Amino acid sequence: VKHYEAKNEPALEYTQGSKERKDVEAALSKFASDGTIKIPICIGDREIHLDGAKRQVAPFDHKRTLATFDYAPPALIQEAIDNCLEARERWEATPWEERAKVMLRAADMLAGPMRANIVAATMLGQAKTVYQAEIDAAAELIDFLRFNVGNMAKLAQYQPISTKTAENTMVYRGMEGFWAAVTPFNFTAIGGNLAASPAFAGNSTVWKPTDSALLSNYLAYKVLREAGLPPGVVNFVPADGPQFGAEITKRPELAGVNFTGSVPTFRSIWSGVAANLANYRTFPRLIGECGGKNFHFVHPSADLEQVANSTIRSAYEYSGQKCSACSRLYVPASMWPKLRDRLLELRASLKFGSPLDIGSTFSSAVIDDKAFRRVSGYASELPKSDSANLQLLGGGKCDDSVGYFVEPTIIETRDPRHRIMQEEIFGPVLAVYAYPDNQVDEALNLVDSTSPYALTGAVFSTDEEFVKLASRRLRQATGNFYINVQSTGSVVGQQPFGGARQSGTNDKAGGPHYLLKFLSPMAIKRAT
Ligand code: SER
Repeated sequence: VKHYEAKNEPALEYTQGSKERKDVEAALSKFASDGTIKIPICIGDREIHLDGAKRQVAPFDHKRTLATFDYAPPALIQEAIDNCLEARERWEATPWEERAKVMLRAADMLAGPMRANIVAATMLGQAKTVYQAEIDAAAELIDFLRFNVGNMAKLAQYQPISTKTAENTMVYRGMEGFWAAVTPFNFTAIGGNLAASPAFAGNSTVWKPTDSALLSNYLAYKVLREAGLPPGVVNFVPADGPQFGAEITKRPELAGVNFTGSVPTFRSIWSGVAANLANYRTFPRLIGECGGKNFHFVHPSADLEQVANSTIRSAYEYSGQKCSACSRLYVPASMWPKLRDRLLELRASLKFGSPLDIGSTFSSAVIDDKAFRRVSGYASELPKSDSANLQLLGGGKCDDSVGYFVEPTIIETRDPRHRIMQEEIFGPVLAVYAYPDNQVDEALNLVDSTSPYALTGAVFSTDEEFVKLASRRLRQATGNFYINVQSTGSVVGQQPFGGARQSGTNDKAGGPHYLLKFLSPMAIKRAT
């Protein structure tokens, strides 16, 4: 592994009759025949079952319970931390090459025998189509594990300059204490990466998955363990969010929090840490990715068909629940009537329904009841209650009788600073503002200043001068900037992902420097 070079895992296509299609169908039927799965709290070698009072349901069929689980009470969260601290020392002292072998074995298991299972679990639990589940739970998670190893190999090759009088070296240690990974529902790969990256770097991690992604996340945890991760290096601890936050931040051994989720939750973690600052053995590192209000900006020179197709994909794939999804579109007024008709035409052709209809469903339900209420507020209620400013052009139907379904929706606003252009919706709702053709500059200002986020954004133009201008003007408005292509779909090792402002600490998961966040390097000088 010393010279390991990672390559991206190709995504499988799941065409009718293909081996992967048969495998995933078999995994889906197995989950159906197994019935409800009991997900434990995993501490060290122990799998703890309490009374199984909580349920993870299929978002597109909420009468179907996939799994039961319990929140770890405070005493068990503390036990998980103690267990991590015990496991840490030996793991940290293990050469990185040995730790790498575990991670590469886990990647190979995901690429091989576990692939169909984790893809099926992501389809069922997080309502992803087979392809969306594949690029997440298989390809991306595999990439995260392998690129970490490749990046560590490069880092380890670095040699400081030695002189006649001193031999200098660097040692990359894991940090003292424990890490916490607090992870989201929308990418199984993010869950796995947020827990596995600190672990690979030589830390131990308490992983709090989110309720609505438990099944796939539990499988990712099991893969790591079966690949040889020693007990206690990652403990899998479903828990109540605020309670978990309070339990980890009060411990003096907290080394860091690896977080993806909402701004308020990330703020409350910061507050918890701030309140205990004097007690920590080291300054905890806080890494956060917290969402966005991502834009597509169309210049009058843009290719209309390219804009239409990219915008549909970005706004509606996975029901607009990628952190990177486009949710505000700026378009020149002269182009808008044609683009509107094309968007409406494409939108009407999207089939949304159960992800189990492989091959025909484009997108499915939003994740849960809370998301349904929030998103339907934007898609259906807001345009009715604010008809002076908003016009519902397509979609807007919301129905949670079977699953949490919100139709792909387009809303036009006359007010470029309307809250629909500012707030993260995290659902299949696209807000559009048609700007006067002679006010391109003012419109770029709006993009930069309207929302507090800076995660992803795309500009569409065939005019190179404009592309240069926009790239300069929107320099701080995104962490991932796209030119003539949709704002979603970053690939590990190709587009390291993350943003600044309220979108987070921009530490770029999938990038070459990510691992450094979990390492505590020591520089050694030895007299010669
Ligand atoms: N990395 C994903 C994307 O770019 C979002 O989290 O779509």
